[in-house]
Amino acid sequence: MDNSKSKTWSIVLTMGFTLGLIGISGMVLSDDDDDYEGNDRWSQSRLDVAPVDNAFYKEECGSCHFPYQPGLLPARSWQRLMGGLEDHFAENAELEAVDAEQLTAYLTENAADTSDYKRSRGISRSLAKDDAPLRISTTRYFKRKHHELPDRMVKDNPDVRSFSNCELCHERAAQGSYDEHQVKVPGYTDWDD
Ligand code: HEC
Ligand code: HEC
Repeated sequence: MDNSKSKTWSIVLTMGFTLGLIGISGMVLSDDDDDYEGNDRWSQSRLDVAPVDNAFYKEECGSCHFPYQPGLLPARSWQRLMGGLEDHFAENAELEAVDAEQLTAYLTENAADTSDYKRSRGISRSLAKDDAPLRISTTRYFKRKHHELPDRMVKDNPDVRSFSNCELCHERAAQGSYDEHQVKVPGYTDWDD
């Protein structure tokens, strides 16, 4: 084979290989609706937020409702919420000062704006810098993810009543998994029918 011919072939092969790589990386990136970048998305792909790993938090903040993962709200929200426990959604959830301090530290150190997990980043980015919502369920990110659910499945559903009851529909919520493929709305076989 003459030399210039084999050179042409090697250029063609290199180009083909490069285009293939671009194609593969394009597929990988476009698969994600939350523009999550970084390689750790593989290791965390089954978990949306870091699970709660604090027994005291589970006990104190999980007695009335699901113990929401710290990664579901930014630190400024947790600070605001912890500063008003005596009037907590019309309930008194006041704690001893030392306990409140300990829980505030846990919440803020693991908050959405300090976490690399996919949902934490999504929630954090959906909020303006000075916005400190007290509810996860009123964030723009949450609303975008749940806008297809009619009232009859939530507010008017006697088995649910409130979006605050994450664990009723997300069976693996306690593990930090909110994947839409693991959702089951109580009283409905298929939520999107
Ligand atoms: C005495 C009962 C009680 C305790 C204890 C309690 N909460 Fe709540 N919490 C409530 C109620 C009631 C709501 C409103 C639920 C609803 O709207 O369905 C609520 C709502 C919330 C929400 C908003 C959920 C949403 O809709 O996005 C957050 C966040 C929250 N609580 C965090 C905490 C934290 C953190 C602690 C521990 C410091 C705590 N709660 C302890 C009663 C309690
Ligand atoms: C009434 C049932 C219900 C409740 C309560 C509920 N969710 Fe959902 N959630 C859903 C459904 C259904 C979807 C899938 C919606 C879709 O794909 O359009 C979803 C989607 C999500 C997603 C996006 C999942 C994905 O794969 O894109 C996240 C994150 C999420 N929920 C978090 C929460 C959190 C946190 C709470 C509690 C504060 C909560 N949800 C409460 C039903 C619920």
